[in-house]
Amino acid sequence: MSFPTNIPFLDLVTPHVELERELTEVFHKALRSAGFIGGPMVEQFEEAFAAFCDTGHSVAVSSGTDALRFALMAAGVGSGDVVLTVPHTFIATTEAISQAGALPEFIDIDERTYNMDPAKLAAYLETQCTADPSGRLINRRSRRPVTAVVPVHLYGQCADMDAIQELANQYGLKVIEDACQAHGAEYFSRKRNRWMKAGSMGQAAAFSFYPGKNLGACGEAGAVTTNDGAMAARIRMLRDHGQAKKYYHDVEGYNGRLDAIQAGFLHAKLGHLAKWNTQRRERATEYNRLFAAADCPVVSPYEPDWSRAVYHLFVIRTEDREGLMGYLKSAGIGSAIHYPIPLHLQKAYASLGYAAGDFPVTERVAGEIVSLPMYPQLTAEQQVRVVEEVVSFVEMASAPKQAASQPPVLATAETA
Ligand SMILES: Cc1ncc(COP(=O)(O)O)c(C=O)c1O
Repeated sequence: MSFPTNIPFLDLVTPHVELERELTEVFHKALRSAGFIGGPMVEQFEEAFAAFCDTGHSVAVSSGTDALRFALMAAGVGSGDVVLTVPHTFIATTEAISQAGALPEFIDIDERTYNMDPAKLAAYLETQCTADPSGRLINRRSRRPVTAVVPVHLYGQCADMDAIQELANQYGLKVIEDACQAHGAEYFSRKRNRWMKAGSMGQAAAFSFYPGKNLGACGEAGAVTTNDGAMAARIRMLRDHGQAKKYYHDVEGYNGRLDAIQAGFLHAKLGHLAKWNTQRRERATEYNRLFAAADCPVVSPYEPDWSRAVYHLFVIRTEDREGLMGYLKSAGIGSAIHYPIPLHLQKAYASLGYAAGDFPVTERVAGEIVSLPMYPQLTAEQQVRVVEEVVSFVEMASAPKQAASQPPVLATAETA
């Protein structure tokens, strides 16, 4: 009798073993040149990543959080400004806003895409803002200027950028994309009548290369993309102590550079990214097919016809999320929640004065989402088993009480 093996939530070992030769070569090259900070490895990666994103420039920095902070600062967001984003994202989005000196304010998400709802952005701008005598957009409550919006392309799917951009143009807001989970995602712009890459639509965009991302470094890393040469130059200064020329500091900056060796690793991996993204899309299609074939009532991810998502995460929704996660765990299957507590309800943001009920869609979604295993190396057999276990839990949970009190025999981590 054979026992099923565990299925991790994320497999970071296999792709690195597969690329061991390429990555070791990068390491040797870095050792031989001893060019650890800046230099050709960083420049070559920046050029290649800008080409991948269809942008004029990319500036490699030390993390996605720094990328977003530098992009906001270079866009002119400053002390006391209000920057709009969603409460359903990783806290780094709002940390970067605060670190740029601004105050985050939230716009609720769309129930199906889990990204910023443009209708709610419009309602906020119409009802909660006014223009001051100089024409600046001012938040009525705080009297602070509202200067930028940060749509987050969550789980690898672009926010509805046409609608957001139109509002931003109308109200004079800068748009900085948080593309930290969306390397290679595409959006069909009805306005421009063409597919556009995540990171190429706003004034600038931030990417994270945290190891588990679709394009991940072997450590911390990030990048800003932009078509604006002046912004790119400003970000290059900000990441390097405010200097464009050594020891001539035009502004006070940061130590936010990317190590050459990480740039080399990322450049090697970038050559595989399109294939990996295709594989993620295939895995998502297969999950959807298996759930549909089983007539399973979980809510699968929704991909509008204007989106080509890259499935950084494959997120389903179900009422008894905790029950499902416990069941999967005992079957040796990893799962996770992205994210369990909306940002407006986090202790860190108590001072912002939000309360439960302020963003009902985010709050409902946060209580029901589960991320299932998703990576290019996930096999068809593993997917079948994940879906079988989800289906068997849902059937058990919806069966009459007596039947539910007879749990099936599960393959546990110990037996596997
Ligand atoms: C949506 C989002 N924004 C920002 C970040 C910050 O990126 P980093 O961890 O590289 O600083 C992340 C990374 O997890 C993210 O998922």
